[in-house]
Formats: sequence, structure tokens, C-alpha cells
Amino acid sequence: MLFSQDIGIDLGTSNTLVYSKGKGIIIREPSVVALDVRETPSTLVAVGAEAKTMIGRTPGSITAERPIKNGVIADYEMTADMLRELIKKAQGNSLFNRARVLLCIPSGVTEVERKAVHDAARNAGARYVSLIEVPMAAAIGAGLPVGEPVGSMIADLGAGTSEVAVVSLGDIVASNSVRVGGDDMDDAIIAYIRRKHNLLIGERTAEDIKIKIGSAYPYDGEAAINIKGRNLVDGLPKNVEITSAEVREAISDCVNQIVDMICDTLDKTPPELASDILDRGITLSGGTAMLRGFDKLLSQVTKMPVKVCANPLDCVAIGTGKCLEKNVPGI
Ligand SMILES: Nc1ncnc2c1ncn2[C@@H]1O[C@H](COP(=O)(O)OP(=O)(O)OP(=O)(O)O)[C@@H](O)[C@H]1O
Ligand SMILES: [Mg+2]
Repeated sequence: MLFSQDIGIDLGTSNTLVYSKGKGIIIREPSVVALDVRETPSTLVAVGAEAKTMIGRTPGSITAERPIKNGVIADYEMTADMLRELIKKAQGNSLFNRARVLLCIPSGVTEVERKAVHDAARNAGARYVSLIEVPMAAAIGAGLPVGEPVGSMIADLGAGTSEVAVVSLGDIVASNSVRVGGDDMDDAIIAYIRRKHNLLIGERTAEDIKIKIGSAYPYDGEAAINIKGRNLVDGLPKNVEITSAEVREAISDCVNQIVDMICDTLDKTPPELASDILDRGITLSGGTAMLRGFDKLLSQVTKMPVKVCANPLDCVAIGTGKCLEKNVPGI
């Protein structure tokens, strides 16, 4: 359509991606909003990467926060602010039309939550808003045969939430979610190091440790790294060595909750579809799918093949893009 701009938005707890029809992914920003709270209502200072650098460093008058918590909108106004900025950026200087937006929502959100996301996008200037459930977008993005009469299982493991779904004939047949993701693993690492080493570290350091040496299953070449933090006993800076095995122990609760969620869903899957999944395996998307050895652990527990999709961080946004490119009816 002339002058119309179709965009897909994956509004995540930690990252927001925007796919523009015909162009691909054009925006990748942390889901952070910085506000000046001296005025009422407070005014927008920055969104995305610029706002993220302000977290923990803001003067009293500015707050930098994440509007999405555990995959759902925690602050409606801030979410609308963020969407408004993203839509504006995605539209560039095309002033002729307002964007048509395909927005991802977690599976199993309530009608009230659906409406809140929908309204936030409308208020942010979208001309027309459709919603797609994250696991469906992830399955499409991963190239699974969602329209065919075979069962495919996709698990999207993000920062604040993990979701799993069995899709067949264009629909979600069984699904499940837990509000546990990579952020919770970072928190668990902070708590473990505090408890075991009396050392206080920040969220960024915890995420760094997880990505560098974290794992869900023992791996070849396990390492130890030196970390700096504040000694809780005397308040002075202190160095401690952390091993892969310690990180695995720290995050094991989170990992097990995600594995249990997937196993419960397999138990609830109708037998014919379960046998399709046994043949075809389970596909993983989302940043936490990159946790070392998670695929191996899941495969061992479920006795099924497990593979991580090609672009775990982009998969959901790519799925919205495929819907837009193909003009899927109803979207
Ligand atoms: N190599 C890696 N190993 C382990 N975790 C990783 C790796 N790379 C990124 N992550 C984690 O992935 C998470 C971000 O993933 P993603 O962008 O899919 O989440 P999100 O979509 O923002 O969140 P949600 O879907 O829960 O709302 C972060 O917790 C990050 O620490
Ligand atoms: Mg996500």
C-alpha cells in the first residue's frame, strides 16, 4: 500500500526489536525508558540504549526503568512512550501515513493485558494494531512448518519469561509459560556470590559471568574467572574467583523450572503431535536459549532431539516480519 508502513515489534523484557516490511530488522534497543520526574506528568528523556546507560547513574530528577517486567507491561505510560519513540523512528520521515503494527505478546496473557498492549500501541500512534503470540512468532521465525498438520514444539527463553508451545495447523495446541528467564539467572548469580563469597556484584557483572562461563550442563574447557565487587564485611573492593561449576549451581533452580515447564507441556500434548515432536525435536529461541549446554540438558531429560534456532535473539521479530511480508490474513 502506498505510503503505508508495516512494522512488527517484539517488545521484550530486556530487548525490543522492530522489523520493517521490505527492510528487515531496523531497530534493536534495550527496553529502557528514562523519565524526568521533576514535572507532573513526568517527561520523556530518552529510550533504548541511551536510557540504559542512565540506569543506576541518574541524578534524583531522572529515573531510568524497564517498562516490561517478566514479559508483561508493568508500566503502561512508559510502554506507550517507548512504543511512540520506536514507531516514530521506524517511520523515519514518511509523514503520510501512520504505521500498521504487528505486536508480539506472551501466550496466555489475560484479555485485560491484551487490551493494555493494544491500546498502548494505538496511543503511540499506530493506525492499526494486530497481536501475535510470542511462541507463534518464534515458530514462524525459526521456519517451523506451523501451517501443516504436524506438531512442532518451540520454546522461547527470554530475559523475564520462558514460553513453550506446540503448534499445528496454524494454531497453538498446547502452551505453558513461567516467569523465569535470563534476568532471574543473573539475580541468582548475584545472590549466590553474596551468600558464598560475601561479595556484592551488579547486574551487568552477573550477566557477564553467565555469558562467559555459565552453563546448564558440564562442558569441555570449563573455566574460572576473576571478578571484582564490594566486600560485604568491610565495604572494600575485593577479588574472587568463580568457576563454571559454581555458576551452574547458582542458576540450577531457574534452569530446572524451565525444563519442568517444557516437560509438563510434553505430558499434556496429544499423542499424535507428541510423536511428531519426538521425530522432529524441540526448537529453542530467545537469548537464554544460548545458555551453554541447555540444549544438551533438555535433550537428556526429554530424550528428544533439541536444537537452537539460527538467530535466537532475532527469531521472534523475524517471525513478525515473515507475517508482514506474506500478508497473513487477519494480521
Ligand atoms: N550467550 C548467552 N548465554 C546465556 N544467556 C544469554 C546469552 N546471550 C544473551 N543471553 C540472555 O538472553 C536474555 C535476553 O534475551 P531476549 O532478548 O530473547 O529476551 P527478551 O525478549 O527481552 O525477554 P522476554 O522475552 O522474557 O520478554 C538476557 O537475559 C541475556 O542475558
Ligand atoms: Mg522475548
